[in-house]
Amino acid sequence: MSKVQIHDKTFKIKITSNEIKKAISDVAEQINKDLKDKKPLFLAVLNGSFMFAADLMKKVNIDCEISFVKVASYEGTSTTGNIKQLIGLNESIKDRTIVILEDIVDTGNTIENIWNQLKQLGASDVKIATLLFKPEAYTKTLPIEYAAIVVPNDFLVGYGLDYNGYGRNLDAIYVLDYSAE
Ligand code: IMP
Ligand code: MG
Repeated sequence: MSKVQIHDKTFKIKITSNEIKKAISDVAEQINKDLKDKKPLFLAVLNGSFMFAADLMKKVNIDCEISFVKVASYEGTSTTGNIKQLIGLNESIKDRTIVILEDIVDTGNTIENIWNQLKQLGASDVKIATLLFKPEAYTKTLPIEYAAIVVPNDFLVGYGLDYNGYGRNLDAIYVLDYSAE
């Protein structure tokens, strides 16, 4: 499939499923080397990271655990505005090596927020692994240790990423096709 229609928009293929597979294998290999003996806890951020998490974990061969969290946004009562809370975390984080699994790091707001919460819970080391990274959009200084694929600042769907809820099930990554607008 070279083009897909989602809601009112047309998207064209950007990254094939084979390219994604290869990039994820490379990240897994790096993690296997770096975190051997650390017994890391992988925390996949739902919904977007489900496919990346599943494919990555099949290639990770060190002792580890995986769990799934969500970031719930709600309007705070104070003037600080939008507060984001990590939900679904049942494991003890204290003194552990944590690897956050994300679908995409864009501005970095989400990842920085999660990183801070995990450090507050006493994690000894918090690393970030993401399927996609948009360095041109990134506004933070936290290092993104494991970025499988670096992409330009375009809107993408597929392989976990959605456009208004749809497109997550696509096995490749698609970009908005402006020529079809
Ligand atoms: P950030 O907090 O700006 O880094 O954005 C992270 C979240 O925005 C991701 O977890 C995605 O849910 C969403 N997002 C950012 N860029 C895209 C995109 O190109 N397609 C779909 N979702 C995106
Ligand atoms: Mg997300």
